[in-house]
Formats: sequence, C-alpha cells, structure tokens
Amino acid sequence: MQTVSVDLADRSYTVYIGSGILGKEQTPLNIASGSTVLIVSNETVAPLYLDTLANTVENAVVHSLILPDGESYKTLKHWSQIIDKLVEIRATRDATILTLGGGVIGDMGGFAAASYMRGISFIQIPTSLLSQVDASVGGKTGFNHASGKNLIGAFHQPSAVLVDIDTLETLPAREFSAGLAEVVKIAAIRDEEFLLWLENNATAIMARDAKALTSMIKRSIINKASVVTEDERESGVRALLNFGHSFAHALETLTGYRQYLHGEAVAIGMMVASRLSEIRGCCETGFSDRLGKLLQLFALPLELPGRLDPIAMLETMKLDKKVIAGSARLILVKSAGQGFIDSTSDKQQIFEAISASQTESC
Ligand SMILES: NC(=O)c1ccc[n+]([C@@H]2O[C@H](COP(=O)([O-])OP(=O)(O)OC[C@H]3O[C@@H](n4cnc5c(N)ncnc54)[C@H](O)[C@@H]3O)[C@@H](O)[C@H]2O)c1
Repeated sequence: MQTVSVDLADRSYTVYIGSGILGKEQTPLNIASGSTVLIVSNETVAPLYLDTLANTVENAVVHSLILPDGESYKTLKHWSQIIDKLVEIRATRDATILTLGGGVIGDMGGFAAASYMRGISFIQIPTSLLSQVDASVGGKTGFNHASGKNLIGAFHQPSAVLVDIDTLETLPAREFSAGLAEVVKIAAIRDEEFLLWLENNATAIMARDAKALTSMIKRSIINKASVVTEDERESGVRALLNFGHSFAHALETLTGYRQYLHGEAVAIGMMVASRLSEIRGCCETGFSDRLGKLLQLFALPLELPGRLDPIAMLETMKLDKKVIAGSARLILVKSAGQGFIDSTSDKQQIFEAISASQTESC
C-alpha cells in the first residue's frame, strides 16, 4: 500500500492508495472501538462495495444511508436526510461518517460531517477516478443550490482517505476518462515530468493496468496535496486547480449540465485556456496541440460545439465587466507544468480563443 501525507498541522491526514484495501482486515480506518459509524453511499456504489467496507469496520456500530445517484441529488434535501439519519442513530461527537462513492457522495457526506454538532470526523473512500485523484483530497465539501453549483459548503478535512484502485474496475469508461481530465490538469499546471509520464503511459492507463493506475493516482494526489498544503483555503495558489474550469463551467451552464460530464467540459476548457495562453504569447505555440493529443488518447472531447455563441460564453463567464475593469481571473500556462493566474487577458483575446476552439458549425 502506498501513502501520501497531507500536512496541515492538526488537520493532517494520510491518503492510502492500493489494491484490495477495502477487503483488508488491517484497513487503516482507526475508528475508536464502540463508536458509531455512518456509511453514506449511493444506489450504484453501495451494492458493489458497501458490504465489503462494512465488514472491515471492526468494533464499531455501523449504520448506512443509501442516497439516490447523481449530481441533481446534491441538494439540501439530502443534507437533511444525512443529518436526520445521524440524529436517528444517536450519533455523538465521536461518530465518524464514511463516504463511499464518487465526488458527489464525498462532498455531501463531508459537509454533513462539517455541520453535524459543529463538526465530526469523516473518512473519504472515493470510488470514481475523479474523486480519487482530486475531490477526496483537500477538504472542500458542499452542496448545490438552485442558483449555483457548490454554493453551500465548508472546508472540512477528512481524517483519512482510502483509495482502493480495484473499485475502478466497475467504473464506466466515460467516467474513467472524465477523471483523467483532472489528472491531465494537475500535470499541465504543476508537473511537466508527470505530463511526459502520462504521454508515455497512456496505453497502460487506458487499459487500467494496476501498476500504472497506482503510480498515476499517487502522483496526482502528491501534487494536489502540495497545493492544498500551501494554500488550504484557496487564497492563492490553489486557484491554479481551476485550469480550464471557467470555460468548463460556462459550457456546462450553456448546455444545461446534460451534454458533458464535468471532466469532459474541463478537457475542452483546458484546450481553450491553452489556446488563450498561446494567443497571449505566454507559452510556446504547440502546447495546445500537445495537450490535445493527450486528451484525445484519454478519449476526451477537445472542441466547443460550433453552435455555441462565443458572446454567450463570455457573458456566462461573467467576464465582461471584469475584463473591462482589467481583472478577469483565468488560469493560463507559461509552459508545460507551469500554470499561473492571469488577470490581463482582454475580451477580444478570450473571444479569439473560444472561436478557435469550436467545431465547424453546421
Ligand atoms: N471537493 C472537491 O474538491 C471537488 C473537486 C472536484 C469535483 N468535486 C465534485 O465532485 C462531483 C463529481 O464527482 P464524480 O465525477 O466522482 O461524480 P459522481 O460522484 O456523480 O460519480 C460519477 C458516477 O460514477 C458512479 N460511480 C462512482 N464510483 C463507481 C464505481 N467504482 N463503480 C461504478 N460506478 C461508480 C457514481 O455512482 C456516478 O454515477 C461534483 O459534484 C463536483 O462538484 C469536488
């Protein structure tokens, strides 16, 4: 089993990565004997892994709550349901929530843990690639509001993260690729050597080779952990993790969150941001082609739909006013592995990057 430490003073924790972790007798949960545990999962993941997990939680009183599957259920109604369950099982401050599922379950269970009795422990057991490499590490938890994604939330670090790579065997191919977009993101803004490694190991990764997956997930988490350690509450460098995300959010909004998985939108968003970096002369021409080749190997989309109006995209990004005021905050790249926060791109340059990233309209 591999480990990565997230060093945050008294909120430090360990991420365990390996194969067969959930079934191991010595699963590193460190739950106090006799305490109450609530496993929060969903209708898709629970039938696959809940029993195995429950059987490894020794000496604790284990309860479970199975929520419906999907981003559309990341609402306060389901926050209430988790809190109601905690009350029903008479959970006290020494209770622990185990989140078993993708990023949606992690965010929901994490926020319930942050808010119940002003904060109880939780352990992330991410089962999607996106949640293993990104969402489960860093302590961002939350729920969506009708008027905005992740509008309700808190920083609440888990007490451990258990990444069992065997769970990826059941993850649908499209979800697997969506997770790879976040892997490429961290390499593109932070770690050129890792980007090169991804290029050289793309075939093994797509074949879900255990050794390749373990190395890839570990390296992604090391990078994410170093960003979080530097800037836990996103007042600086953590914003780099938003590479491609401003464009992705606008695309998701304009397509009603129905056409693209988040990772797919991020892949397209990274292409737009790379083109903007080239247009701005911040990085050498050819970087976006290099990134595009890798994203393509990972079966990710690269282009914005041709029918999408670039002006609508700009407006959705709410950049208009900010650009005029000279304060648009976008993540660009200087070179492979070196992202930076830019606030000097003008509306015309952003427009150009969006247009250059569209498919031919029909
Ligand atoms: N907290 C953070 O820092 C952070 C970072 C990135 C994303 N997020 C959040 O994460 C969410 C996206 O996460 P996601 O991509 O994991 O989505 P998700 O949780 O919806 O999971 C994707 C799908 O895969 C299924 N699934 C998960 N593991 C599986 C497995 N092993 N086998 C079969 N099916 C499995 C899920 O049930 C779901 O249908 C969003 O809500 C986003 O806001 C949070």
